[in-house]
Amino acid sequence: MHLLITGGAGFIGSHVVRHFVKRYPAYTITNLDSLTYAGNLGNLRDVEHLVNYRFVKGDITDQAFIDRLFLENRFDGVIHLAAESHVDRSIASPVEFVMTNVLGTVNLLNAARRVWDGCFEGKRFYHISTDEVYGSLGSEGIFTERTPYDPHSPYSASKAASDHFVRAWHDTYGLPVVISNCSNNYGPYQFPEKLIPLFINNIRLKKPLPVYGKGENVRDWLWVIDHASAIDVIFHKGKNGDTYNIGGHNEWKNIDLIGLLCDIMDRKLQREPGESSSLITHVADRAGHDLRYAIDSSKLQEELGWSPSIRFEEGLEKTVEWYLGNQDWLEQVTSGAYLDYYGKMYGSPSSGD
Ligand code: NAD
Ligand code: DAU
Repeated sequence: MHLLITGGAGFIGSHVVRHFVKRYPAYTITNLDSLTYAGNLGNLRDVEHLVNYRFVKGDITDQAFIDRLFLENRFDGVIHLAAESHVDRSIASPVEFVMTNVLGTVNLLNAARRVWDGCFEGKRFYHISTDEVYGSLGSEGIFTERTPYDPHSPYSASKAASDHFVRAWHDTYGLPVVISNCSNNYGPYQFPEKLIPLFINNIRLKKPLPVYGKGENVRDWLWVIDHASAIDVIFHKGKNGDTYNIGGHNEWKNIDLIGLLCDIMDRKLQREPGESSSLITHVADRAGHDLRYAIDSSKLQEELGWSPSIRFEEGLEKTVEWYLGNQDWLEQVTSGAYLDYYGKMYGSPSSGD
């Protein structure tokens, strides 16, 4: 099995690469990533020496390059994670999201279709998507695989479009595809623009914690390593043409999650109780901010036997320990262009005084 994983130098992709290279030594894993601000080969230091792993730097929006890569390698399977992934950036620069998330996905679909040329036995194109395509819930309800798409941000619209293209390649050309839609991930190696690592970094540096609006939005959090194990199960056992929701039934109002995170940080940094939460600053709400996400993953649990491995409180504690134990990683990824981004988003640099 020669497997192409796109976006393997990013947050979730690096956990997926690590999972597959270690668990399947007989598979060859090619990690294709253009190394944007979010891609970092430092996320894979512990596995990059393994003989079944190789890295290719390249951009999925470059159609000629993608066609050549597929012709030269004859992959048996693709797990496609490469994307622009941050909602706030999509509000500021939507076109990049169209290019990578939509055009990039179509380039991969076309290349797979051409190189597999109707011989689909043993082949699989697995597209990694998000629960945000389903839109926003009120205080009741839950997203199932049958919930109609209703994306609101440029990010979720681009992911919804890419999901539709993947289904179109299945229905029109018979490409063997599978899609999963996952809830919010957390854990090691997440870029500190997303809520949890951003707030860990800011607490570490005693910087304000910018809570959008009242902090009443709800997200459904999943340990990233559990997402990687779900991807393994779906890649190997998912039904051709099917969709699976992934989530851990773990809803948190932002402000409650932030309270828990502040308590853990006070303890780990041996600060006075309440010191971290005094950094909370309510700022203008995100435009089009979805109120609530909640994922029903019973199809995946019942049909394919997957279940999440750890409780959120334990996972959050481990996450804090990882970031505090890897402050050099945090320093490295928050230098350079990050400071410009942070200044534009929040009006002040996030590190240094
Ligand atoms: P990330 O931003 O951490 O990583 C994205 C990776 O894709 C980076 O390594 C980047 O360099 C690479 N990339 C971006 N543009 C590229 C291009 N044009 N060509 C090649 N590589 C490119 O993202 P993530 O949070 O790890 O998300 C991975 C996937 O999972 C995305 O498709 C995202 O939509 C989906 N997802 C994320 C979450 C979450 O909570 N983070 C939840 C559900 C689904
Ligand atoms: O639901 C899955 C999605 O989860 C993925 O598809 C996306 O790639 C991923 O980025 C994530 O999207 P969110 O927008 O939910 O994640 P983020 O960490 O940006 O924000 C989580 C919540 O915290 C959200 O309600 C906005 C709020 N927030 C975020 C930031 C960065 C703040 O209040 N302040 C902040 O500074």
